[in-house]
Amino acid sequence: MSQNKANEFISLLMTALSNCALYSEEHPLVREFSVKVYDEIGGLFVNDSLAITLLGDSLVFNEVPLTDAGPHLHSFAKKMRRKGIEKIMMVKGVTADELKKFVVAIASTEKVISSPHISVGMIEVKFGADGDDVDALVRENVGKVKSLFHDMNKFRRLEMVSLEDAVIAFIATLKREINVLRVISPVKSYSEYTYVHATNVSVITLFQAEALGMKGENLHDVGIAALMHDVGKMFVPKEVLEKPGKLTDEEWNQMKQHPVAGAKYLSALPDVPKLAMIAAFEHHMKFDGHGYPGMKRKGKKQHIVSQMVAIADFFDALRTERPYRKAMDIAMIIGLMKEGVGREFNPLLVENFFVALKRIRAV
Ligand SMILES: [Fe+2]
Ligand SMILES: [Fe+2]
Repeated sequence: MSQNKANEFISLLMTALSNCALYSEEHPLVREFSVKVYDEIGGLFVNDSLAITLLGDSLVFNEVPLTDAGPHLHSFAKKMRRKGIEKIMMVKGVTADELKKFVVAIASTEKVISSPHISVGMIEVKFGADGDDVDALVRENVGKVKSLFHDMNKFRRLEMVSLEDAVIAFIATLKREINVLRVISPVKSYSEYTYVHATNVSVITLFQAEALGMKGENLHDVGIAALMHDVGKMFVPKEVLEKPGKLTDEEWNQMKQHPVAGAKYLSALPDVPKLAMIAAFEHHMKFDGHGYPGMKRKGKKQHIVSQMVAIADFFDALRTERPYRKAMDIAMIIGLMKEGVGREFNPLLVENFFVALKRIRAV
């Protein structure tokens, strides 16, 4: 089997997926492309089966690594990662209907499940030896973000696979330990503030988003957006960022540039979801239109995900102990949030957060 044939097949599969995203399951184009995929399969079987495996951010097709990765291959690998799929195996006997259902499931936000002739192997989130110890999981998650941020600060490069893996691990950790307060970690020193805060904000935002019923790739994008919300701070001078005392007007102006700088940085990276740019740009805007950057265009509303990030940001900042004040308890933070409802925060989202915390008996 040549690489070309494998490339063509995956391109066809991606076109079928795009049609599914645009049209209903019954649309002629969805049917047409599913049939085209089906027609190609026979010629690709090796020993009556066909396997596509995700390895890092590349694909292996019937044990042949696909090296000259075009845009379709790249998109399909990304799709598999986001769906949590490690391996797809099709065996002889697969029907056109089975294949169409599979294509529709991959295009949806639902989990892809195996059928008689198509087996789907899911990525196991590896938690290490202390897999059952929540504190160890949380430390591991923070460690992932630490190395991601280290590379970003040093090389201005963002390793998408590591970023996506970190968010997959957060979602898995929240599944294992539903008490979000046990999944967020304390900041022990100033040097770790950046990545611990980013991790916590992502986890708290995911907690809210799940409570709203978000799932699948949408949920994943929300986690990425929250993790990257303060990325623009790497462009703020260190003396300003780490200044222990009060900032001068000029320094404060520099600090206030971080949402714009972050959005600009993220917009130059092709694989980052748009939502990340939006949340980076808007997380200091307020529900009533105040905050920064100023909303010059009238009627511009803060995106709901930026509103959730703003809640998570506020919550994490207040529960962290600072040299000038102690960490606040949850009830007090919720009280302050409720005071800010309608001006600073979206009332429905504060309620959603509060109810979700109550459900896990955190308040
Ligand atoms: Fe910020
Ligand atoms: Fe923040």
